Amino acid sequence: MAKEEEQSAGRNWRPETALVHGGITRSQWNETAEALYLTQGFVYNSAEQAEARFKQEDPGFQYTRFGNPTTAMFEDRLKIFEGAEECLATATGMAAVTASILSYVRSGDHIVAARAMFGSCRNVIETICARLGVSSTLVDGKDLNAWREAIRPNTKLFFFETPSNPNLELVDIEGVCKIAREKGIISVVDNVFATPLLQRPLALGADVVVYSATKHIDGQGRCLGGAVLGKTEFITKYVQEWLRQTGPSIAPFNAWVLLKSLETMPVRIRAACATAAKLADLLAGLDGVTNVIYPGRADHPQAELAARQMPGGGQMIAFEVAGGKSGAFRCLNALRLIILSNNLGDTKSIVTHPATTTHFKLTPAQRDELGISDGMIRLSVGLEAAEDLADDLTNAVKAAKG
Ligand SMILES: Cc1ncc(COP(=O)(O)O)c(C=O)c1O
Repeated sequence: MAKEEEQSAGRNWRPETALVHGGITRSQWNETAEALYLTQGFVYNSAEQAEARFKQEDPGFQYTRFGNPTTAMFEDRLKIFEGAEECLATATGMAAVTASILSYVRSGDHIVAARAMFGSCRNVIETICARLGVSSTLVDGKDLNAWREAIRPNTKLFFFETPSNPNLELVDIEGVCKIAREKGIISVVDNVFATPLLQRPLALGADVVVYSATKHIDGQGRCLGGAVLGKTEFITKYVQEWLRQTGPSIAPFNAWVLLKSLETMPVRIRAACATAAKLADLLAGLDGVTNVIYPGRADHPQAELAARQMPGGGQMIAFEVAGGKSGAFRCLNALRLIILSNNLGDTKSIVTHPATTTHFKLTPAQRDELGISDGMIRLSVGLEAAEDLADDLTNAVKAAKG
């Protein structure tokens, strides 16, 4: 096997090595860093070759909406790391979520999804799918019986995220995917919060895993991107055609940034997780903090499941301060280092007030049902010194008391 083919296959590599060398194809210049092919199209040597390429009888690229060498390197590297048969990159995480659902379901089908999920995903399932004649049932993702009971003869797809945004509820991936498999239902897992490093949905029985690469894969707050991974049969039969025809393709520049970001992902995520674990413990001991939700803490309501399916608590913490919305706002406004944004998974630590931003469209009753209180703050832990973040949080929680 040629050296380059061996690298693409990523044979026998440990995860960190696959993330640095996996999927490389070098140009005639044999560059060390991966090349950025900023091109829309590709030149054919003859009319016969163009014809053959359109008939997929000649390997190679046609048009960047269909595929691009830089994008292919990103897809191959993530695929090798994830242990998936196929990976397709998308312009955003929502393009990945939408493609994995809408490419598969048809009018008259039914979806079951965990209620605790990112607002736009809920909108796709509850509103956009409904408009296309696809019905859905939202369940308590923690309850395996609820998944079983929601199945109808026309149920085609299960969708869930774990841990969920923002309340860090977990879904038993193995348990839910087993129920799906027994009924011939496709299970799609949004693995954004756990990251590909801390959770392996495909190995736990999921058919499809989707990412907002915007978050921890970029990890530095720069480019939007997404990815759908799974078996060749599903990806090529459904997702590939959907992406090629509807066009939410990733820009090669963004794919290049994300490709290079994969190289440092384990170092970044491990460092941020170590800091997050310290900050979760600190917050739990602060006067004025009424609740801390962190999958790495023994007092997480699903600590046993977290230990089983996530080898780390992650970068995300949810905590509640006394005083409801005013308490939370005083806390947010008193932060001097941690920034206020609705994004997450950055080197910079970020706080969000879900009730008034990411989840403001839900009714108060819906927020109650999900445990999103007015005093809840979501914290995405970055790469700053843990001590500086601890000082900032301690001061802000003090200020929250008014
Ligand atoms: C759990 C989850 N899924 C999907 C998305 C959508 O990702 P993007 O913003 O890249 O479209 C987000 C974004 O915050 C998210 O948190």
